[in-house]
Amino acid sequence: MKAGSLTVVGTGIQLVGHLTLAAKAWIEQADKVLFAVADPVTAKWLRSLNATAESLPYNTNNQRRRETYCEMTEKILAEVRQGLNVCAAFYGHPGVFADPAHAAIKQARQEGFRARMLPGISAEDCLFADLGLDPGKNGCQSFEATDFLIRQRKFDPTSALILWQIAMVGNLSFYQPGGNLHSLKILTEVLNRYYDSEHEVIVYEASVYYPVCEPVICRVPLARLPETEMTEVATLYVPPKSPAPIDREMLMRLGMSVSVEHKKEETSQWKTTNKL
Ligand SMILES: C[S@@+](CC[C@H](N)C(=O)[O-])C[C@H]1O[C@@H](n2cnc3c(N)ncnc32)[C@H](O)[C@@H]1O
Repeated sequence: MKAGSLTVVGTGIQLVGHLTLAAKAWIEQADKVLFAVADPVTAKWLRSLNATAESLPYNTNNQRRRETYCEMTEKILAEVRQGLNVCAAFYGHPGVFADPAHAAIKQARQEGFRARMLPGISAEDCLFADLGLDPGKNGCQSFEATDFLIRQRKFDPTSALILWQIAMVGNLSFYQPGGNLHSLKILTEVLNRYYDSEHEVIVYEASVYYPVCEPVICRVPLARLPETEMTEVATLYVPPKSPAPIDREMLMRLGMSVSVEHKKEETSQWKTTNKL
C-alpha cells in the first residue's frame, strides 16, 4: 500500500449528536480533514476537532452538480496523493446520495491507497424515527425523485415509498427556491396513477437543530403536493395505500397455517400459528 489513505465518515443529520465515536476519532487523528456539510455550525465544530479541517469546493457556477462533485473528488484525491491520511466528512450517511464520497474511495483504491467508509445516520434513519415507520412492516422503497420519474421505476404502492430530493426534481443544476413547481406537478400526476388524490403524503424535513427545533412533518393530500412549502432538504414519504393480499398458496408451501388476522387499518400485520 502507498503512503496516504482515505477515510470517509458521516456527520449525521443533527448537529454534533449524530457523529459516531468512530467517526470522531478518525476526524481527530487525520492529517487532513475535508468536509461537505449542510450548516456552518457543524463546519465550525469540525475545525475545532481538527485544525486542518477545510470545506470541499462547492462551485455553483458549474452548469451541473455533477461537475462540482468531480471537483470535490479531485480535491480529496490531491490530498491523499501527497501521502496524507485524509478524512472526508459528508453530512448524513456519507454513502447515501453522495457521489463524490463513493467516487473518491473508488479512485483512491484504484491508485493503490487504503480507503474505507464508515456509516453515518442518514435522513432516512431520522424519518423512520420521526414518522414511526418500521420498514420491516410493509417493506420500504427508496428512490431519488428524478430517477423515479425518468426511469419509470417499478414500485409497489402497498409498500412504503420514500422519494429523495423532491425539491430538485428534474434539476441537474443547483437548488432554486420554488423552482420545482412544474416538476412537482408531474411527480404528483405520476403518483396519482397509483394513489388517489386524497391519499395523505408527508413532506418531511428532519431537524438539524434538535432539540431546539422539531422536525417538519407536513401532511397533505397528494393533490396538494405541488403547492406545499418545502426546502432543499425535503424528502417525501408516501404511506402504503392498502395492504398487500397474502398468498395463501405460498403459506401452504411454506408449511404455515392459514390463521391470518386481518385488521382493517393494518391488514399487512398478520400472524400465523407458526409465529414469524
Ligand atoms: C444529497 S442528499 C444527501 C443525503 C445524506 N447524505 C443522508 O445521508 O441523508 C440530499 C437529500 O437528502 C434528504 N435530506 C437531507 N437532509 C434532510 C433533512 N434534514 N430532512 C429530510 N431529508 C433530508 C433530502 O431528500 C435531500 O434532497
